Amino acid sequence: MANLQVYYDKVQLHLNVPEGQSVRDALDATELRVRAACGGTGSCGACLVCLLGGDVNPPTLAEHQKLTADERARGMRLACQLRLRGDAEVRLDDPAPPSLWRSLPVEDLWPAPAGRPELDRHIYGVAVDLGTTHIRVAFWDRKHGHRLATRRGPNPQGAFGADVLNRLDAALASPERAAELAKLARTAIVQAVRDILKRDVGQVGPMLAEIGRVVVVGNTAMLSLLTGTGAEALLEPENWERAVDYRPRDPAAWQAQWFMPNAEVFLLGAVAGFVGSDLLADLVATGLSRGPPGSLLLDVGTNTEIALWDGQALHITSVPGGPAFEGVGIH
Ligand code: FES
Repeated sequence: MANLQVYYDKVQLHLNVPEGQSVRDALDATELRVRAACGGTGSCGACLVCLLGGDVNPPTLAEHQKLTADERARGMRLACQLRLRGDAEVRLDDPAPPSLWRSLPVEDLWPAPAGRPELDRHIYGVAVDLGTTHIRVAFWDRKHGHRLATRRGPNPQGAFGADVLNRLDAALASPERAAELAKLARTAIVQAVRDILKRDVGQVGPMLAEIGRVVVVGNTAMLSLLTGTGAEALLEPENWERAVDYRPRDPAAWQAQWFMPNAEVFLLGAVAGFVGSDLLADLVATGLSRGPPGSLLLDVGTNTEIALWDGQALHITSVPGGPAFEGVGIH
């Protein structure tokens, strides 16, 4: 690992960066992102930083094309082309506007799954993990099986309660409140997709039309709040061992709210009351039930899902893993 010091105005960041990682990638996981509109290919020229010193790669062909000789002499570099070989210091004069979205470090990501759909059109897809506290979004080229970019940001529904039950209670208080909760989550996901398209692809409107599928997983309560359906059933303990139906009442009208004209927005079905489809995604990703007996999986979050594989069956449950007083103050 190398040390990267970043200066902007009165802010100073100290980052541990894997050698060979670009300065743009390192900063994309922080609140101090460089401007960008090309996904790091060196073609937009927006990600300017000033190199103050350190052990880095020499300017690339893209930097010779995008930067004048005078800029290069002043130490200006393109952050997406600038890679650390050892410790280094850079100054950021004109960062991207503040955003709640951060890229996920590549080392935190699972490899692309095997198997790809046969597609000629609308080849892009969006995978969403809608968590109670955080939302994670990945943008995929489904035809070629490439994950193009990822984002992580807060679930803005937190204003209605940090825990699951308070949010369900808020949704039941009035249809307007339920619609507001649904809109907050939906808008956040769309913003994350737009952030990816703007910064990593360089085109927003036409690319939104090229998205063919959005798949959302999450705990049952978050999916209910996203569609505005099922919150009442979820608060009844007799439903906790069954799969609650949270499909939108008017699917066509609901799909139209996503501003992705050719995308089917697909919610993976939950397993039971508070065991959501995020657990299903975990099971597919980890292959737990193909592994040895006695394997345990925990998806630790505000709602923590747990699966135990005994070699023949999966035993599953969930437990609040976040606020200590889940549902405090409600009857
Ligand atoms: S040139 Fe670096 S992000 Fe576009």
